[in-house]
Amino acid sequence: MKTVFPQLEENQSIDDIFICAGKTVREDKNGNKFLLLRLMNSSGTISAVKWRADEALAEAFDQGQIVAATGTVKMSSYRKALEIDINNIYPVTDTSEIDLGDLLPSSPRDLDEMESELAEIRAGISNTYLAMLLDEIFTASMYRDYCEAPAAKGFHHNYIHGLLEHSVSVCRVASAIADQYPDVNRDLLVTGAILHDIGKTVEFDYATSIDYSDSGRLLGHIVIGEKIVADAIARLDRIPEEVREDSCENIQEINLQLRHMILSHHGEKEYGSPIRPKTPEAFILNHADDIDAKANVFQKKRAESTGRQWSDFNRPLDRFLYLKKVED
Ligand SMILES: [Fe+2]
Ligand SMILES: [Fe+2]
Repeated sequence: MKTVFPQLEENQSIDDIFICAGKTVREDKNGNKFLLLRLMNSSGTISAVKWRADEALAEAFDQGQIVAATGTVKMSSYRKALEIDINNIYPVTDTSEIDLGDLLPSSPRDLDEMESELAEIRAGISNTYLAMLLDEIFTASMYRDYCEAPAAKGFHHNYIHGLLEHSVSVCRVASAIADQYPDVNRDLLVTGAILHDIGKTVEFDYATSIDYSDSGRLLGHIVIGEKIVADAIARLDRIPEEVREDSCENIQEINLQLRHMILSHHGEKEYGSPIRPKTPEAFILNHADDIDAKANVFQKKRAESTGRQWSDFNRPLDRFLYLKKVED
């Protein structure tokens, strides 16, 4: 039976298949090797430790591989959280019978529901040119990748379908802010919200575990995303003027401001944006993105908390998170 991490109880026996999401080899004070592991399945991740690991076991598998493990759930006296004390662990070589959907964490939201939400948001865009641009970008394979990709490796929405969940949510947050400020171009803002992280379809590999791709590490999703949008703009440029139903000058302005929104959506240079937001739509997108990413971190940490009041130190947010909820 599949192990559901948030429902684990102390002393529960484990006999299951996982993805090894992290592995560190350490030595105790007597010089005996042990493994500190992070095991993952679709319900999340958990820490695990394998004491007395000989050289062969320490080398037997690596991060990103599928492993079979038996063990017992214990309360870690050091971390004050449940972890698995591993009895036996080995790599699974024949993965043909394994459904990766059971192993990779995926969005808690229903995929069909999120896709309908995206379709509804796109249908609400009345600017013909922006609607055409979205059609041009979302080829069948891009749409599939966009719906499947995670939004991060470790920060927020770091699971399959995470990019779609995050993007739809940023659209909603941005839209709500736009309601307050009539001067804002809602179509431009919503299009920017849909596209702001589209580079993540290329930034991550997520076949057996979520990790950065080579181009993800070398270029990053902001530059990749701007290129995806700029390439689509260039392709649309060859479409006859009469199909575009808008003035050329206005289209050039839209293109410029949309590309600016993609490039500036992290807000500051030290957060990875080559340029800081300089339009109201870019400002709102930056803040809507930030709110949604951080709110998701809290939601995820609370779901994984197994009764703990405080999270481990959260590096992306640079603080411990207080997880106790005030009930309604
Ligand atoms: Fe981003
Ligand atoms: Fe984002």
